[in-house]
Amino acid sequence: MSQFKPRVFSGIQPSGDLHLGNYLGAIKRFVPLQDTHDCIYCVVDMHAITVWQEPEDLRQSTLELTAAYLAAGLDPKKSIIFNQSQIKEHAELAWVFNCIARVGWMQRMTQFKDKAGKNSENVSLGLFAYPSLMAADILLYKATHVPVGDDQKQHLELTRDIAQKFNNDFAKSIKANGHDEEFFPITEPLIAGPATLVKSLRDGSKKMSKSDPSDMSRIVLTDDSDTIAKKIKKATTDPEPLPSEAKGLEGRLEAANLVGIYAALSGKGVDEVLAEFGGQGFGAFKPALAELAVSELAPMNAEMRRYLADPAEIENILRDGAGRARPLAVQTIDQVRDIIGFVR
Ligand code: TYM
Repeated sequence: MSQFKPRVFSGIQPSGDLHLGNYLGAIKRFVPLQDTHDCIYCVVDMHAITVWQEPEDLRQSTLELTAAYLAAGLDPKKSIIFNQSQIKEHAELAWVFNCIARVGWMQRMTQFKDKAGKNSENVSLGLFAYPSLMAADILLYKATHVPVGDDQKQHLELTRDIAQKFNNDFAKSIKANGHDEEFFPITEPLIAGPATLVKSLRDGSKKMSKSDPSDMSRIVLTDDSDTIAKKIKKATTDPEPLPSEAKGLEGRLEAANLVGIYAALSGKGVDEVLAEFGGQGFGAFKPALAELAVSELAPMNAEMRRYLADPAEIENILRDGAGRARPLAVQTIDQVRDIIGFVR
């Protein structure tokens, strides 16, 4: 039995437009957790600066992402919503974890390899150490559950490794300071549902991503209804009709992606969607998908705009959230300092 009270933490980078993958893999799944867990949702601006951000753009993206959180149904009365840089303890714990994690662990991170490409000597040191900051985000609040898309799985495994190594390396001091031996929890990833990795609309072998050069590859949350419909209509597919069961989607990456998106948007299972559309071609399925996507995204888009009309109110919400996060962060960091042997 874990001594930790169930607590959810997750974060999204304010770096460019939010897309349907961020929404279905993360934000939409954050909302119901508010009713069952103590939740902390962060705008991870310190992660965003691991690659260059124009200061004005960073500020605007921070407001937009917060507006998207609120428009999707995150409630600042139920959850703590704040931006990372307001709590300096994230940076402090990340430094400690930089001294716990091994260079070899970081070198194995596929996301770093993808982002750095052939240019790995020339990327920021922050980009390399990024997973250490992510572990700090989560463990600063001793979060037990982290809802994310499938692309973050490896980072969460590393978070578990860092927690485990800290608990082992400092076992004697953890005990001497009166804590349970599992000082940091071994966090559970929450990666579930039909859209854990939404794929590009142009190429079903690639994930939908902010950095894809083609705008047609992704639906962004600020797209208007016509643009959403056009992108779905032009999405790459195969000529076969849809199968009647999930098994029939094997090897049909683009078809599986569109059906997964439909299922995630509608809250239905993949089999249920196929029971409805099996035997029909994309000529019938795509307009139904476009209609469903517009019916969910258009009201959210309008709500985002409403929040963005009052940036000072968004800033208040972030400041208030930071005010509630800070005592939790300070408590952990003070414990960590004592465990490490820092005099305070
Ligand atoms: P980020 O900002 O790249 O993405 C935010 C969330 O969206 C999910 N996601 C997707 N889900 C499904 N299909 C896709 N195509 C897709 N693309 C992105 C991501 O899995 C993520 O859940 N390192 C994190 C941010 C972070 C974090 C944390 C997350 C920093 N600290 C602590 C959890 C806990 C990131 O870059 O996500």
